[in-house]
Amino acid sequence: MQKDTVLVIDFGGQYSQLIVRRVRELGLYSELQPWFSAAEAIRANRPTAVILSGGPSSVLGENAPTIEPELLDGIPTLGICYGMQWMAHALGGQVGRAESREYGRRTLDSVAPGSTLNDWAKRSVWMSHGDQVLEVPPGFTPIAATGSCPIAAMEDRAGRRLAVQFHPEVTHTPHGKEILSTFLFDIACLKQNWSPTRFVEETVEALRAQIGNKKVFCATSGGVDSSVVAALLCKALGDQVTCVMVDHGLLRAGEAEMVKEEFTAHFHPKLIVLDEQERFLDALAGVTEPEEKRHIIGNLFTVVFDEHSAEIADCDFWAQGTIYPDVVESGSATAAKIKSHHNVGGMPAWFRERFTIVEPLRLLFKDEVRAVGLELGLPASLVNRQPFPGPGIAVRIVGEVTADRVRMVQEADKIFQEELVAAGLQGQVWQSYAALLGIQSVGVMGDERTYQNPIVLRAIHSEDGMTASPVPFAFEFLEHVTNRIVNEVKGINRVFYDLTSKPPATIELE
Ligand code: XMP
Repeated sequence: MQKDTVLVIDFGGQYSQLIVRRVRELGLYSELQPWFSAAEAIRANRPTAVILSGGPSSVLGENAPTIEPELLDGIPTLGICYGMQWMAHALGGQVGRAESREYGRRTLDSVAPGSTLNDWAKRSVWMSHGDQVLEVPPGFTPIAATGSCPIAAMEDRAGRRLAVQFHPEVTHTPHGKEILSTFLFDIACLKQNWSPTRFVEETVEALRAQIGNKKVFCATSGGVDSSVVAALLCKALGDQVTCVMVDHGLLRAGEAEMVKEEFTAHFHPKLIVLDEQERFLDALAGVTEPEEKRHIIGNLFTVVFDEHSAEIADCDFWAQGTIYPDVVESGSATAAKIKSHHNVGGMPAWFRERFTIVEPLRLLFKDEVRAVGLELGLPASLVNRQPFPGPGIAVRIVGEVTADRVRMVQEADKIFQEELVAAGLQGQVWQSYAALLGIQSVGVMGDERTYQNPIVLRAIHSEDGMTASPVPFAFEFLEHVTNRIVNEVKGINRVFYDLTSKPPATIELE
C-alpha cells in the first residue's frame, strides 16, 4: 500500500471496488485490501482513513471475516453495511438478525438533529442486509432509522468514526457521495492528493528511476490499456522503448493495420508487429474448452515474445497494461475464479525470471486509464476505444477456433460496428461484438436448405466491466444489422441478440 492512502478493507462485498472508485473520484488516493491481508498492509503503512466494506457474511456466523479492532485505533473509520455491523460487534455493541431482510430502496424516516446525517431525513438510501445493529457500542450514538431498521447509522464524533447500514457508494443512494465526502474531508480532514496529472508526473519519475538507461519492451495489443502504457513509457524513456505486438490472427478485422497507423501517428514509431497467425491457429486446432484456449494463447504469447526478443533488442524490462480490477480480482476477498483473464499471475515463472515486469497502470481503473491517456495527449478516438480481451476473438467463438470461423466473426463484427457508427450509437455502447455459437441450424436461402451457423450480437452498457446491462436497441436497427449479416457473411443463416445482463452472464461468451 502507498503512503497517504484511504484504505478500503474488503469484507467480500460486491460494491467494494466501487467504494475505492468513489474515493478516487473525490480526489483522494485509495486502495482495496481483503480483510485477511489488511493487518499487514496497515502495519506497513498507516492509512489516512479506513472504510470497511459490506459483505455477504454475518458477524454472528462462524469464521466471519474480521480484523483486530486495535489496528484501527486512532484512524478515522467509516463502516458500511457489514462494516457497520462488524464495528458494533467488535467494539462492544450488539448485532442481531433483522425481523425481515431489508433489500432495495428505503427512506430514512428519522435522523438525529445536529448529527452528521442532519440533512438526511426522508432521503432515499439503498439497503441490502439480513443482520442489523441492535445496540451501539460505547462512545457511539444512533443517528438514523428506517421503518424496519431502528439503528441505520451511528457515529462517534470524538473518535472520528461513522457507520451506515445502507450503501452510500451506489448510485441508488442519490446523495451517497456526500457521506463519503463528509467522512473524508470533514471527519478525517484529508486533503486531495489524486488526479490524472499528478499520476502522470509521479509515474514518469518512477519509471525513470526504475529503468534508468536500460531498455524496455512494451507489449502492445492496440487496446486502450497497453496504448496508455506505451505513451507513458515513451514520455518517460523515449528511445529506450520498443513496442511489440503479436498479431495472433484473433483481432478484429483491420485491427493490426489500425494499430500500426495509430502508433505511428501518436507515438514513438518503434513498433514491431510479429505475424504469427498460423501458429496460433495451429495451437488452437481441436481445442474447445474455454480456459484451455486462454492458456494456450497466453503461453504462446510469451514463447513468441521470448523467441523474437533477442533479435529485436536486448531488454531487461517488460511492460504491460495490467489494470486495477485485474489485480484486485486476483487476490480478492471473494476469490471464486470465473475466468483467468488477468495478466497477473497468469504468466509463466520462467518469463518473470527473464524480464522484470513493469505495470504502471496496475493501480488504475479503466476510466482513470482513459483520463491518463487524454492527459498524455492521446486522441479521444483511441482512448475511448472499447475494451478488447487479450485472447481476442477466440473467446467469442464457442467451440473450435478455425480460420473460417474467425473469418465469420470478423465479417459479422465489422458489419455490426459499421452500423453502430452509421446509426450514431457507438458512443452509447461500452462494449459490442459479434460471436459464434458452437451449433448449426437449418435455414432456407434461394429455395435451398442451409445448415449453417448463428451469430450472436452482444452490446452492453457498463461502468467498469464488473456489471453490465444489454443495450435496448430499436428493433429496426437489429433487423437491419441481421439482414446485412445473413446476406453478406458466408456461412451465417441466423442472428441472435443477447439480452442477458452481467450477472448472471459474463460480458464475453467464454
Ligand atoms: P467478462 O467476460 O469476464 O469480461 O464479463 C469483463 C471484461 O474483461 C474483458 N475480458 C478479458 N480481457 N483477457 C482480457 O484482457 C481476457 O481473457 C478477458 N476476458 C474478458 C471483457 O472483454 C470485458 O471487457
